Amino acid sequence: MLARTLAELQHACARLRAQFDTVTLVPTMGALHDGHRALVRAGLDGGAAVVTSIFVNPLQFAANEDLARYPRDEAGDLAALEACGCHAVWLPDVATMYPPGDVTTIDVAGPAAGWEGAARPGHFRGVATVCTKLFGQVRPDRACFGEKDWQQLQVVRRVVADLHLPLRIVGVPTVREPDGLALSSRNRFLSPAERVVAPRLFPALQAAARDMAGGDRVEQALRSARTALEQAGFEVEYLALVDGATMRPLEATADNARLIAAARLGSVRLIDNLPA
Ligand code: PAJ
Repeated sequence: MLARTLAELQHACARLRAQFDTVTLVPTMGALHDGHRALVRAGLDGGAAVVTSIFVNPLQFAANEDLARYPRDEAGDLAALEACGCHAVWLPDVATMYPPGDVTTIDVAGPAAGWEGAARPGHFRGVATVCTKLFGQVRPDRACFGEKDWQQLQVVRRVVADLHLPLRIVGVPTVREPDGLALSSRNRFLSPAERVVAPRLFPALQAAARDMAGGDRVEQALRSARTALEQAGFEVEYLALVDGATMRPLEATADNARLIAAARLGSVRLIDNLPA
């Protein structure tokens, strides 16, 4: 089922609710890859219906980020979603999501401050606002988000808890290329030379996590990883050990600690994370 208007969406959701106990929402911006497909598969778990949304959300792009360059492939996305068992696709346009007179946005403090929030001002306002709208439109029992965007997952969890929204957020492990590079729609912008270097981000994080587990000081382990990345040709934006829920920096490993990184190769900004 395909819905392009709110009326069509309501109709599709009513049909799914009549047939399934659980409805899962998988929010995406399209240009789907195996990471997105893993979210759909997780969403189907337990015999649930899956509604996937495809909406390139202008509110989460800063003026200097090229919204126009964001890859779009509606026909390919619809075929991929059908093949992996998604039940309905929600394809709103900008006027449906942000109709004239729309003035409400969701501002999240706490886990939205720092890291991606600092590098991309306004980004999490856009994410939190569009996700809240999607939750209101689809009214899912649960929604799947990738661990690839760890900070985004924590921001969405916070919004759902703070606004008492009646759904459960499910985090899905990062899907990687065989060489370890986390799948991302931005990987297509890597030059062949950058594509060779890009897979070195994840092992650098793994090495830092191993060093910390082996008793090295956090600061020392982070410094070694940063040096290794810079020598490989990355421009490191941040590399930090944080509490996995609050995103506050940690000086020592702890339960729920997460190692997070953002690094540039040329014009392409890569992010990754792992438990530490
Ligand atoms: P998008 O970048 O399309 O990602 C959609 C979902 O796929 C997110 O939950 C993201 O974390 C997940 N994802 C991306 N790459 C992944 C990978 N390699 N493994 C597992 N999951 C992966 O994130 C967004 O869109 C937007 O911010 C959105 C939440 C849709 C709001 O506009």
